[in-house]
Amino acid sequence: VVFLSLVATVHLKTVKQSDAKAELEAYIEEKKSEINPRYRLHYHVAPPVGWMNDPNGFSYYKGEYHLFYQFYPYESKWGPMHWGHVVSPNLVDWRPLPTALLPEEEMCFSGSAVVKDDTLVLMYTAHEITDVEPFFNETQYLAFSDDGVVFEKYEGNPVLPSAPNGNPDFRDPKVWKHGDHWYVVLGSKTDDERGRVLLYRSLDLISWEFLSVIGESTGEMGYMWECPDFFKLKGKHILLMSPQGMTPQGDRYKNTHQTGYIIGSFNYETFEFVPEVSFQEIDFGHDFYATQTTEEDGNRYLIAWFGMWDVPYPEDVDGWAGAMTIFRELDLVGNRILMKPVEAMTSLREETVWDGKLAENDVIQLDKTGELLVTGDLSQNIELEIKGSNGGGQVSLRWDPQVRKVVVDREGDVRQVEWLPLGSEVWRIFLDASSLELFCGEGEVVFSSRVYPDGGWQVVNLSPQALDVVAYKLRRSVPEP
Ligand code: FRU
Repeated sequence: VVFLSLVATVHLKTVKQSDAKAELEAYIEEKKSEINPRYRLHYHVAPPVGWMNDPNGFSYYKGEYHLFYQFYPYESKWGPMHWGHVVSPNLVDWRPLPTALLPEEEMCFSGSAVVKDDTLVLMYTAHEITDVEPFFNETQYLAFSDDGVVFEKYEGNPVLPSAPNGNPDFRDPKVWKHGDHWYVVLGSKTDDERGRVLLYRSLDLISWEFLSVIGESTGEMGYMWECPDFFKLKGKHILLMSPQGMTPQGDRYKNTHQTGYIIGSFNYETFEFVPEVSFQEIDFGHDFYATQTTEEDGNRYLIAWFGMWDVPYPEDVDGWAGAMTIFRELDLVGNRILMKPVEAMTSLREETVWDGKLAENDVIQLDKTGELLVTGDLSQNIELEIKGSNGGGQVSLRWDPQVRKVVVDREGDVRQVEWLPLGSEVWRIFLDASSLELFCGEGEVVFSSRVYPDGGWQVVNLSPQALDVVAYKLRRSVPEP
């Protein structure tokens, strides 16, 4: 009887979940028509309606890339987290699938995905509200899918009920396989509020053994490390994470929270990560956080939330907020990770709008999208003004040969960093209806910033020198609103 009633309860729960999913899809369909398209991105993943933050479950399954994301469909601001879901054959063209995870007693916080015996397994943080201080608790859950579309939460959840020190901040599992074991890194903190990353392993993804702390803030690295990722790149190990609470130092750490990496070496026998190069930001723009990577065909691909906590989202009045960056491929040269747009991004080029010299004060008119390849003489100043054709969204991109810095000045809010070209001296600039991404050279320096132009884009050369410019209009690769 007990067994039968257990089966019945599970069945009832499943029915309720599928009703809730159908209702949600109907709601999204209906709400979509109310979206104001003015800032809607043409080739960046964004929520169909409502709010998006972190990328989750970035993986390759049954011939397609899967990307999930922190999603709150009912308002253009953060709320009880769902997992939105999109798929792509090439990391450029994306089509939506039904919302993969809906909150029940737990909010579905960030996590990752792996393929085990032909099943796509999601591991994510269940964030629960409690009535005792600190009024929340975090544990790790699993969910399974055999078709990559419909996901069932594991009945034995949680699989990881608490951090070794019992700290309730215990989230964002990133799983990978090495040898016979599955490994997971999780973001957490010490009792005296220093961010740290915990490492566990398992043979079945269900019972986990705590192994070590692979990274820990000494204090100046912040009070919490979110969204850790740990992977091998060119013979080194990279600990990539998003620390909260770092104090700005000159040009560095100017966003609300940071995302960056430590290069080191790791030993699968002692479970010790030995840092060799200290923390560096991976992107220097205004809106970049909570990265996740996956490896496929020997390449390491990265995606990030094209956003930031506690900043305005001008699109929120239009019925949506937040987006993903374009997908990037990683490389490691010397002490730095290089980040390049994935190769397939060139398939977006639809029409050449400009090809030749752009003299001082010359203007290129673009519609909502564009890619520009800009080359100038780096012994002289460069200044490109990029702004809305009807006003708004003004950014100045500059090169200062005296200090050898690239500057992204978004209406007076400056991000800048030294650039030492390793080869190519080209600036590759991606413009979408409300965003700008600048890749310098081989990807030594990258800036990702949301910018909100009225109308299309205008690019003006304010440099004393003529620049060589190729500009393309880019096609749409995500669904129309
Ligand atoms: C990072 C983060 C994660 C958490 C999620 C909640 O942006 O704070 O640590 O899982 O967002 O939406």
